[in-house]
Amino acid sequence: MSNSQKSSSHSPSSISIIRPDDWHLHIRDGAGLKSVIPFTARQCGRAIIMPNLTPPVTTTRRAQTYQQTIFDALGKNSDFQPLMTLYLTDSTPAEEIKTAINSGIISAVKLYPAGATTNSDAGVTDIKKCYQTLEMMQKLGLPLLVHGEVTHQDIDIFDREKSFIDQRLELIVRDFPELKVVFEHITTSDAVDFVIESSSYVAATITAHHLLMNRNDMLVGGIKPHHYCLPVLKRETHREALMKATASGNNKFFMGTDSAPHSKHNKETACGCAGMFTAFAAIELYAEAFDNADALDKLEQFSSLNGPLFYGLAVNSDKITLQREKWTVPESYKFGDDVVIPLRAGQTINWKIVS
Ligand code: DOR
Ligand code: ZN
Repeated sequence: MSNSQKSSSHSPSSISIIRPDDWHLHIRDGAGLKSVIPFTARQCGRAIIMPNLTPPVTTTRRAQTYQQTIFDALGKNSDFQPLMTLYLTDSTPAEEIKTAINSGIISAVKLYPAGATTNSDAGVTDIKKCYQTLEMMQKLGLPLLVHGEVTHQDIDIFDREKSFIDQRLELIVRDFPELKVVFEHITTSDAVDFVIESSSYVAATITAHHLLMNRNDMLVGGIKPHHYCLPVLKRETHREALMKATASGNNKFFMGTDSAPHSKHNKETACGCAGMFTAFAAIELYAEAFDNADALDKLEQFSSLNGPLFYGLAVNSDKITLQREKWTVPESYKFGDDVVIPLRAGQTINWKIVS
């Protein structure tokens, strides 16, 4: 990373980094997709596109159609690359993994435990049912992306990630030691420790919102539906552990925004959807988190180098420049025929992309 115009050795007023990638992104479908995809295409070279549509993207064929919709929304002049994923179900055949590899467009398979989050009803009820498919993924080198929360009613929502490690993930990693696994959007010190102690086949994405907020930001002074996401924000000690891992330079941790737009009325309701919309300022929000931790010199590694290394891809060839400049986030952005409330609506962000 090159720092220009340093205001002090630790707080540069601008930074240039290799163009980042978003290794975990929701862009939905239809008119909503058209509204949100330009934000990511402006900052990132690539993004891993989550498959939890209705109906979910369970086949390579459907992923091809979805990718074409994305290309159509981007227009001819864009060189942004949507990296497609398959939604794993109890009955995904091992053959589908061969089809996925042969298509050349599938980068990973997503495991949603059934009922864990938005559009996960068709997810996996018992991972043992998927063992032949996981075997094929291990053999052909296709990564498994994991939403790591158990779903039993009797497990406290704040403990669901830790329970998932103990009850599920340890077994998956033991039974498939050479399967590439990305523990997605980790939120606890337990997950950080698990990833660090696991083999080089295991990595994790971390969102900007889990680096910038703890559960007080959702609950103190009135409930904030726009700060509700899954896995839910945790206590401060966990946020600190995530920030430490993120800023450590360990190449097992990389950027995955989990930007998950929902229309305003689906968030501001008696039973609101989970998800924060951050794609409009993804790298700026990460820059702020790294800056708060006095670790801007590690931003590029996390946002632009570690992800491609894990996925076995080249890093992007151009750079972006961010400037320390406060700007006010709009109260809302268009989202198809509706609006989405962005993170920090009406408030400021300290960094801005200038080129
Ligand atoms: O907050 C979240 N929103 N977490 C998820 O796992 C899913 C996502 C969504 O699709 O809305
Ligand atoms: Zn997600």
